[in-house]
Formats: sequence, C-alpha cells, structure tokens
Amino acid sequence: MCGIVGYVGPKATLDVLLGGLRRLEYRGYDSAGVSVIGAHGLETRKKAGKLDNLVAEIAAHPMSESHIGIGHTRWATHGAPTDGNAHPHLGGPTQKLSLIHNGIIENFAELKAELLAEGAKFASETDSEVAAHLIAREYEATGDLPTAFANVVNRLHGAFTILVIHEDQPDVVMAARRNAPLVIGLGEGENFLGSDVAAFVEFTKRAISVGQDQIVILRADSVEVRTFDGHPVTPEEFTVDWDASAASKGGWSSFMAKEIADQPQAVADTLMGRIDSDGLVRLTEVEGLDLGLVMNLDRLIIVACGTAAYAGDIAKYAIEKWARIPVSVELSHEFRYRDPIITPNTLVVAISQSGETMDTLMATRYAKEKGAKVLAICNTQGATLARESDAVIYTHAGPEVAVASTKALTAQITAGYLLALLLGQMRQSLPAAELMALGQELLKMPARVTRVIEELEPAKELGREFANAKSVLFLGRNVGFPVAMEGALKLKELAYIHAEGFAAGELKHGPIALIEEGQPVIVIVPSPREADSLQPKVISNIQEIRARGAKVIAIAEEGDTQVEAYSEHVLWIPQSQSIFSPILAVIPLQAFAMELSTAKGLDVDQPRNLAKSVTVE
Ligand code: AGP
Repeated sequence: MCGIVGYVGPKATLDVLLGGLRRLEYRGYDSAGVSVIGAHGLETRKKAGKLDNLVAEIAAHPMSESHIGIGHTRWATHGAPTDGNAHPHLGGPTQKLSLIHNGIIENFAELKAELLAEGAKFASETDSEVAAHLIAREYEATGDLPTAFANVVNRLHGAFTILVIHEDQPDVVMAARRNAPLVIGLGEGENFLGSDVAAFVEFTKRAISVGQDQIVILRADSVEVRTFDGHPVTPEEFTVDWDASAASKGGWSSFMAKEIADQPQAVADTLMGRIDSDGLVRLTEVEGLDLGLVMNLDRLIIVACGTAAYAGDIAKYAIEKWARIPVSVELSHEFRYRDPIITPNTLVVAISQSGETMDTLMATRYAKEKGAKVLAICNTQGATLARESDAVIYTHAGPEVAVASTKALTAQITAGYLLALLLGQMRQSLPAAELMALGQELLKMPARVTRVIEELEPAKELGREFANAKSVLFLGRNVGFPVAMEGALKLKELAYIHAEGFAAGELKHGPIALIEEGQPVIVIVPSPREADSLQPKVISNIQEIRARGAKVIAIAEEGDTQVEAYSEHVLWIPQSQSIFSPILAVIPLQAFAMELSTAKGLDVDQPRNLAKSVTVE
C-alpha cells in the first residue's frame, strides 16, 4: 500500500522525505510526491512512475530549504497513476494546504458533491483530494489547524492514514489514522511520521504506533496524540528491533512472508465499502453493467491463468450456488483458440492480479469481438485489462511483489464471493435473507484469516520437515479441489519439485497408482458440520491412500474430532461455512511451500523461470 513520510526538525527536509520514500519502495507504488514549507511558502513536486522521476523533477525545479514536509508513494486505488492523481494534493482556493493519504475514503462521493456545490475546483480523480479541500475549508472557518483537521477526519468513512501541513502553521504536521498504518519516530529536537518504521529507522529506533481513530499533532519538540473526539492519549513507546537494511521488506524475511501476513488486510480492504453490516452487497463499479444483461444472463465464463484461474474455480461454486447462473472456468489461452460459444447474454469475467497477462487480454478482446460484455477482477488500478473491460471490480490487496501470488489470490476469491452475492441479489435467485446471512458470514472472514496467520508455525515446521520430498500430492473435493490445485502450484513454483493436485474423488480413477510408502499427501478436509458435508467421503479417501503407505497432512476445521485418527499431521483452520473455507485453507499451503523452499535455500520472491506478469502469449 502507499508509503508515507512526515518530518519536522533541523535536518534538510527533502533528504529525509526522499530517503524515507526510498526505503518504503518495497511497498510497491506507481507515483510519488513531496510537499515542504520553506521561505517561499508551501512547495510541492509530484510525478507518476518511480521515485527517480520525482528526483528528476525536483532537480529541474529545485525546492527551497525547509524543516517541515510530507512525502508519499502512491499505489493507485481511485484514479489512474498520473502526475495529477499523485499525492500530495492541495486544498482550497488558496492552495496553502497539502495532504497525503493512504487508504480508501468510502464516502468521498457525497463529500465531493458537497464541495462541488460550493464551487470547489478539483485537479484529480482521487478520493484523497476531497479531504484536502474539506480541511482547507474548515481551516478557513476555524483558523485552527488541529480543530479543522479533527472536524474533518470525524466525517470520513473507510480506511485512511492522512498527513497535512499548512503554510500558515509551518511548525506542525497533522496526522490521523483509521484502519491504515501510522507510526511516529521520536528524535531529539525532531520528530517523524511513517506508514511503517522503515520511513525513519535510519534516524531513530524510538517509535510509537498510533492507535485506531487517533490524531497526532507533531512538532519538532513535541508530539501530542488525541482521540478523534479530542481526548488526550498517552501512547506507548517501543524500540525498533531491525535496521534500515531490513527495511527493504518492512522487516520481513521476504516479500512473500510479508504478503502472506498481509492477507487479513487484503481481504478486509477488498470487502471495505462493498457490503453493509446487514450483509447486503453494493458494488457500484458493477452497476455499470446493464441490468438487462444480468437478468438475462445465460452463461458466465471466467477466464484467467494460473493462480487467478483457481480463484475463478472457487467463484464458480459461489456464483452457481447463489446466483443460479451456469459458469465455466477457462484457461485464457485455451478459451481464446477453441472457438467458444458466446452469445449477447454471455458475461465474461476476467481475473488477473496484474491486469497485463497477455493470454487473458487476448481472451477478453476475443470475447468482446464476439459480442460479450467483460467484467474484470483486477488488483492493479488502471491496468490494460481494467481499461479494456466494461466494468472492473478492483481487489485491494495492495502491490504484490513476490512472483508467486498469495494475497492477490485471497483478495480475488473475496471479490468472487462479492460478485456472486450481488448477482444473486440482482436476480433474486435466493431469498434475500439467505443472501444477507451469507454476506454477514463473509464479513467475518478477515478475523478468521487473522487467526490462521497467527497460527502458521505448524505449517512452516512441516515445510521444513518435508524439505527433501521429491513429490507431494494434494487432494480436495468441491471448493477444496481448487485449493488443492493452488497448493500444488505454490509448491511447484517455489520448491521446484513435482506437486500435483487432484479431485479426491478422482483418485480411484488412476492417480492412486502414484501412492507408495511414505508419499506425502496434503488433504483439504471439508467441515463436518454441514448437512450435506463431504467430510466422510474425504475421510474415506484418506483411508484409501493411508492403506497404501501415504503420509497424510490434513487441513481441517477446528473441532473435527475424526480427522486426527486418520492423519499423521493436522493443520487446523477456524470454522466457517465450507464455501468460504478456501480463503482459510489456502494459507497454510502458502506457508508450507514458502518454508520448504526456504529450507532448500531457494529464493521465494523470485523463483527461477517465472515472471510476475506474463505479458507475452
Ligand atoms: C501465481 O502464483 C503465478 N505467479 C501465476 O500463476 C499467475 O497467477 C498467473 O500468471 C496470472 O497472473 P495475473 O493474475 O497477473 O493475470
């Protein structure tokens, strides 16, 4: 997600800001900018692209010496990665206020309408600029920056870390945090702000984590923290326990480790603002598809590659179950060349993290030529796929740097559930109460993902234990089958060993011949709690392979009292409705593959032969 730096103190501010942004590059971004207050007042430079573009811009248009400033690297969510959409954003007609923002302001549209009605002029498409204008307007009314800042942040819904400086008050940086990260760096006669400690760890290891719904008033010689409603907070200081070199990955051993741990946030951010507490889904970005098409859909075709295709397989179960629309999932490169049947009532859904996978682009271009509407599920704002589709559901997993996909997958699965519920709501294919109950169950998933992330050590230990395995098989049924396929792909990609996923019911039709003494087999076991549970059938499959010498690692639901008797190892996941379990079950498989690869001394972030985005057919 976006990188944020704030500073006030005796150092040359620009050096502190650019150095901090450089160390936050690992977070991934597509534009960057800084604002400082110097002898000539507030000055701002910002550019699309990498930091080097910003540095060149500053070289061409030097900035004044300064001792206060804010800096930002943006991962686009609202508005494509352009100079105009880059942060900082200036507020109000006087343009004396500068703001940077990480997150999503859910209610920006109504706030923007309020400002437009008063004649506000916007320079960007972003939700962030709305906050800049609101705070500038409030400051004109109150004459006090902390008051104006607090009045506005209390009106914002969604996720935000916001920093603001104002030319009229050149000694203070205002900051606020809700559902997005913010830390304070404590110096001697200087103080820092950052989206994580990498922003300032070069200068100080004394830090404070800002709590939910808290405001910071940062000066060179003082730091004040208050709640949104103005009560003082006594924050706890901590000491950063890693140095700047580790900052390239935010303290994690690899981008993959970081991105696996990011999954609760990726799922929560993808849900944010799209499903209300009653479980009703609101996907404004899909409402662009004409209702007639949705009501008369005769078929939905999901096209994707690799891990994204497994997200599609899981979405198929949900869409068919909840929206009662026939769904086929096709590998993009196969779909494109098999002369598929496409009618005006066919909706093609393309799933892609990068939005640049040429196979998937070719498939969607072909589908549009044949008259189909195309809906993209994409993680990259403004990507080619997004621009060429009729509608886009963006996943909000943030930049995924490791080549092997983890958090993008759980975000794609989440988006698939949202689409399935929306289609069900629009077509009234299930009772509204039932769909809303499913939506409420979906809202519980981020907390369950957090629990899985907190309990990953057993999966990692097994990865190390099986480091010398030459082959691992994966079995699953129903929604567990795509999970098995993804588990096998992760292991192939990261550990370069034979790994194969099967539908558990397919075993007897051939693959069971692969089972020999000591063969590791990972089995995704469905919840036993549901009326039509497939758990007993999977237990039978486990017995069949154990009778032939398999070593079974079960991924099973807490409370399943049967599975332990039939497994050498059990990796437990929290209870949930089976259809939602892939978001949970896939994570131990990610950790298993990552640890097995690491134990073999391999590079989990950049596996051999692979590219993060396959931009050729
Ligand atoms: C996933 O671990 C792989 N790196 C690969 O299968 C990837 O999912 C596939 O290439 C599709 O990429 P996309 O989502 O960017 O289209």
